Amino acid sequence: MSENRTPLVEMRNVSISFGGIHAVDDASIDLFPGEVVALLGHNGAGKSTLIKILSGAYKRDNGDILVRGEFADINNPRDAKKYGIETIYQTLAVADNVDAAANLYLGRELRTAWGTLDDVAMEAKAREVMGRLNPNFQRFKEPVKALSGGQRQSVAIARAILFDAQILIMDEPTAALGPQETAQVGDLIQQLKKDGIGIFLISHDIHDVFDLADRVFVMKNGRVVGHARTEDVTKDEVLGMIILGKCPPGAVPGPGAMQVA
Ligand SMILES: Nc1ncnc2c1ncn2[C@@H]1O[C@H](COP(=O)(O)OP(=O)(O)OP(=O)(O)O)[C@@H](O)[C@H]1O
Ligand SMILES: [Mg+2]
Repeated sequence: MSENRTPLVEMRNVSISFGGIHAVDDASIDLFPGEVVALLGHNGAGKSTLIKILSGAYKRDNGDILVRGEFADINNPRDAKKYGIETIYQTLAVADNVDAAANLYLGRELRTAWGTLDDVAMEAKAREVMGRLNPNFQRFKEPVKALSGGQRQSVAIARAILFDAQILIMDEPTAALGPQETAQVGDLIQQLKKDGIGIFLISHDIHDVFDLADRVFVMKNGRVVGHARTEDVTKDEVLGMIILGKCPPGAVPGPGAMQVA
């Protein structure tokens, strides 16, 4: 991943406090096109809060967000979507009682010239997008509650892609999934990378995401311990970052790195 290209997204020196708690403190992260960046850290490290600032759910106290090198004005979820930032939540936000096509177009249904729902067009587009993401998926006519966790995940991702997502945030994407479905999400991610989409994978469990990631950022107590390319560090070294805040030689230390006396 060449670092002299412009990042797809960059958060610079971002902070937010709730009451007296510095949930995120001077955090800087970036993401390049076609790249998967894992955001790691223990429970309460500030991962979700940082990413909620990017998705417009929280308003930062300080810091900047840049999209493709330009300052982005993100104050609410609608702003974030305008910049192509979409979040797939760990709770798999899909509508259970309708089929995949209806989920993809929920709230922005395609209509015919007569104003009626254009089910034919919606299903055709659903088959095209889902076919690209998950070629084995055939269950277009069933309510999504009948689908497996991995299939539901691919419906949620397809919906984001249809919204022209360029920056995809997945918070604990495989936490609710079994091993086979986790592998399926891995395949999906490879597909999205090929399309130049950048992906943040948030997890408190390094084993869920290390093999999928090109780089990792580690947070601890609201601060960035450091970041590294996964090929430059071992899993054990990243665990040392997560648990102790200790930066190995292959990583670039951040403001949260343990100071060596
Ligand atoms: N809306 C809020 N109000 C008050 N405190 C909050 C709020 N959201 C988060 N926090 C606090 O901010 C800190 C960071 O929480 P956050 O949810 O970002 O952690 P996380 O790294 O995502 O953890 P997990 O792995 O458990 O999801 C925690 O101390 C949390 O209690
Ligand atoms: Mg979280």
